[in-house]
Amino acid sequence: MSIRPQKPVPATPAPGKLPLTELAEMKARRQPIVMVTAYDAPGGRLADEAGVDLVLVGDSAAMTVLGHDSTVPATMDEMLMLTRAVTRGARRPVIVADMPFGSYQVSDEDAVRNAIRFVKEAGADGVKLEGAGPMLSRVRAIVGSGIPVMGHLGLTPQSATMLGGYKAQGRSAEKALALLADSRALEAAGCFSLVLEAVPAGVARRISEELAIPTIGIGAGADCDGQVLVWHDLLGLYQGRVARFVKRYAEVGTTIREALEAFAEDVREGRFPEEQHTYSMPEEELALFETSAERDRDRADDRR
Ligand code: KIV
Repeated sequence: MSIRPQKPVPATPAPGKLPLTELAEMKARRQPIVMVTAYDAPGGRLADEAGVDLVLVGDSAAMTVLGHDSTVPATMDEMLMLTRAVTRGARRPVIVADMPFGSYQVSDEDAVRNAIRFVKEAGADGVKLEGAGPMLSRVRAIVGSGIPVMGHLGLTPQSATMLGGYKAQGRSAEKALALLADSRALEAAGCFSLVLEAVPAGVARRISEELAIPTIGIGAGADCDGQVLVWHDLLGLYQGRVARFVKRYAEVGTTIREALEAFAEDVREGRFPEEQHTYSMPEEELALFETSAERDRDRADDRR
């Protein structure tokens, strides 16, 4: 008899779930790790079916899904709702919920409380947070509560204003050394993995060589242990300006717009719905319905 749960239970690996420890083993085997963002159940299911290893419910949702200009406005309630949807759709991939701005910066207690909500209320396998420095204590506190943490260095969008905008980080020897030191510190604090965003390839390579935990690059060159792209960028769904590191694997936005235009034209031209899209009923029932409706209308007319 299996003692493993049939449905995902918070903090308990569900059947078929990629064990978190496998990610470090993939790094050791030099097997590239694939991560993608997703924000809903169909996205989680498709990422799972495509064999993706990690799904990040990114706070990029604030821009890609909710229409904001930055990731900063994302709230805990929004991120919990999106994470719940993704965990309903994906089974095998490790699902990481991005902690939104304000949910972990204030105190270790806040960070642990909110990380627990992602695991307990939304079925996430772990959380991601941005930065090092004061955030190291947050990482230690969350990991100490039994929740895996993914770090995020380089271009950290929640602090883009402090960084002088959305631009590559660590481009001088001094800044690159600081990134390396922060990476080591995040590993020592207990992160199971580290996202490196918009970092020169040579710096990401050095960090990836030095750390035992896998690095996941986005605009950080080919020598990271894995790669991540944002769902809407990868699929061609996002209309805004896209970063240099984005590769579009489809133009789904164009496909959707063309489909909507075709639907609108069919409706306006009377070409939709057709017979095959329509329900029927027995002839005699329809006849009875018509005569009864006529009779009811005549009676109503008489009463007026
Ligand atoms: O929110 C997000 O999508 C991210 C990725 C860019 C790593 O943090």
